[in-house]
Amino acid sequence: MYRTHSNGELRLANVGQEVTLAGWVQKSRDKGFMIWVDLRDRYGITQLIFDEERTPKEMVDKAKTLGREFVIQITGEVIERVSKNSNIPTGEVEILVKKLTILNESKTPPFTIEDETDGGDELRMKYRYLDIRRNPVKESLIFRHKVAIEVRKYLSDKDFIEVETPVLIKSTPEGARDFVVPSRMNEGQFYALPQSPQTFKQLLMVGGMDKYFQIVKCFRDEDLRADRQPEFTQIDCEMAFVEQEDILNTFEGLTRHLLKEVNGVEIANFPRMTYDEAMKRFGNDKPDIRFGMEFGELNEVAKHKDFGVFNNADLVVGIAVPGGACYTRKEIDKLIEWVKRPQVGALGMVYVKCNDDGTFKSSVDKFYDQEDLAKWAETTGAKPGDLICVLSGVTDKVRAQLSALRMELATRLGLRDPKVFAPLWVVDFPLLEWDEDTKRYHAMHHPFTSPKPEDMAMLDTEPGKVRANAYDLVLNGNEIGGGSIRIHDKETQALMLSHLGFTPEQAKEQFGFLMNAFEYGAPPHGGLAFGLDRLVAILGGQETIRDFIAFPKNNNGRDVMIDAPSNIDDEQLKELNLKLDL
Ligand code: AMO
Repeated sequence: MYRTHSNGELRLANVGQEVTLAGWVQKSRDKGFMIWVDLRDRYGITQLIFDEERTPKEMVDKAKTLGREFVIQITGEVIERVSKNSNIPTGEVEILVKKLTILNESKTPPFTIEDETDGGDELRMKYRYLDIRRNPVKESLIFRHKVAIEVRKYLSDKDFIEVETPVLIKSTPEGARDFVVPSRMNEGQFYALPQSPQTFKQLLMVGGMDKYFQIVKCFRDEDLRADRQPEFTQIDCEMAFVEQEDILNTFEGLTRHLLKEVNGVEIANFPRMTYDEAMKRFGNDKPDIRFGMEFGELNEVAKHKDFGVFNNADLVVGIAVPGGACYTRKEIDKLIEWVKRPQVGALGMVYVKCNDDGTFKSSVDKFYDQEDLAKWAETTGAKPGDLICVLSGVTDKVRAQLSALRMELATRLGLRDPKVFAPLWVVDFPLLEWDEDTKRYHAMHHPFTSPKPEDMAMLDTEPGKVRANAYDLVLNGNEIGGGSIRIHDKETQALMLSHLGFTPEQAKEQFGFLMNAFEYGAPPHGGLAFGLDRLVAILGGQETIRDFIAFPKNNNGRDVMIDAPSNIDDEQLKELNLKLDL
């Protein structure tokens, strides 16, 4: 037997027992007549003691050769420590070693295996297997496991069946580029890796599976950010014979279960907000509602004077920054610089200080009197002591800019507490979105999403106004899931694809299999998918998903540990018909 106990297990009650432990050397201290070694494994740290008087000499000599991260096995007696360490659960005991076996040596690791390490990101990624030995990463992976188990338990209990769908498929349009895989047996042809199992889960509904889920890898070739990886995991779900309400209730139930089991937080019904309302109140379709600072639209109270900038704008909109009236001129100038950065893109910012005595001091005092500014304060909800920040311009752009400012200021003011959870549903998304590059509409969610029946008539006249039976689940300002009620009849699907610019031939070639299936009794159905990595990161109090993924890719889509992607040799290229001139 390699070990009788783990390194997190022994307590005073074990004193006197002979035990065998195995693990990695965290550190060792050689005091000449005594050597202490901290032995670590997944479960914790146990202190070992090699004592010249009580440990065989050859074992003491061997202990002197131990370096950090050596893998060892020891046998010894559990004894009570003279100086106890109340910081670790095993801190009251130590092991008086009788026998030491070095199972493997280790080079000195390139960074310290401590909670706060000296290793930079790239280095930690290159030696990810060492990084995983560190508590924060290890704990994150264990946390992810816990969430996944709770998801499986909850959904199984509700009669959902986990079904695996293929990875070598034909392109599914979810809005990103596909990763493709050349087919050796079918010259010149390619599989696509799934951006999601969307069409397969719909086919499972036609197949009568009724309630499906799958914790599944998805692949999207898109620009990477802190909350995006090229391969990521979804909790993908679909249900038949349901309406939107059933789906929202079911998955609100799952989210509530996770918050309770994993975070010990109980949350009543999740608020719901339409897409239009979210954009108007927060300038964002994934609003962080842990704090206020809601938008106040100022067109009516700001467009009647000689200030050309506002008069020429589609939208003048502001937020009240709590306690901001005390910002110095320099601090406000810095804020203005911040909104003018290319990443935000505002042309400038107007501000109003709401003084404690009820008067106002603004950067546009030339155009607006106290009475005007009082109306601005009322519209933005500003109180004495606050600062009103106002942006103006084209509606969509100015909303995005003010939303960025709102989030930045909330972060600076400490209003985004990761231990507070504020979920909500955003519903009634637009069906279509105008794409400036291609000069046509594309599906905002995906082409299988059903339009609201009452809006169908506008498809030909005002396509941008048609709303969909589509919804997102938002948690603390992050989209953690999204889905829709699907089209389940061939005619509507064909109509939808034609609106998206597919000719009947293209529609048949790409989605013929789904349209055919719709001719064999497709039930009404709908579903959603959670981003598991994002969900886990947010429940874990973070927004970067990397540390919750065992082996993540860097921002260039590279795995720097195994050095992928990499070249393949000419023979392989030839076999795949990718090298024509050999
Ligand atoms: P959607 O494209 O909204 O919907 O994806 C669902 C959820 O997956 C997460 N997500 C990502 N997480 C990490 N890295 C990425 N690159 C990434 N892209 C998406 C998000 C998102 O909310 N088939 C539909 C679902 C449905 O209609 O049922 C779909 O994939 O948290």
